[in-house]
Amino acid sequence: MPLITITSKLITGIPSIDAQHRQLVDAINQLHEAMKQGKGRDQIAPTLDFLVRYVGEHFSHEERLMTKAGYADLAGHAAQHQGFTTKVGEMVKAYKSGSAVMGVEVSRFLANWIQDHIQRTDMAYVAALKAHGAT
Ligand SMILES: [Fe+2]
Repeated sequence: MPLITITSKLITGIPSIDAQHRQLVDAINQLHEAMKQGKGRDQIAPTLDFLVRYVGEHFSHEERLMTKAGYADLAGHAAQHQGFTTKVGEMVKAYKSGSAVMGVEVSRFLANWIQDHIQRTDMAYVAALKAHGAT
């Protein structure tokens, strides 16, 4: 069973954003499966690399759309992105340097953060972005 299932609560209705959220959810589910199975660093590292890169691209995309729409809470939203990016970057660095062991609590943390962020923070921009024709 996947760790995250996309339900209507996680769908913004903005196609480019929903497609990216699906990719992120897939990567987190993959990571969870790999950690549950006790896969080695060499198998887990590529998924982590993808996740870090893709999270960066996705946050930039959202921030571009919010900027274009003149979204009032852009700064607060971007600060959440920044906080998450920093935390994930540190976790991945520690893991790759061999100083940290990653278990399912890492994928659970990622899953909880992304679901909470989409439901509370992303959903808040939907009306404003749609009003500016975001697709
Ligand atoms: Fe966001």
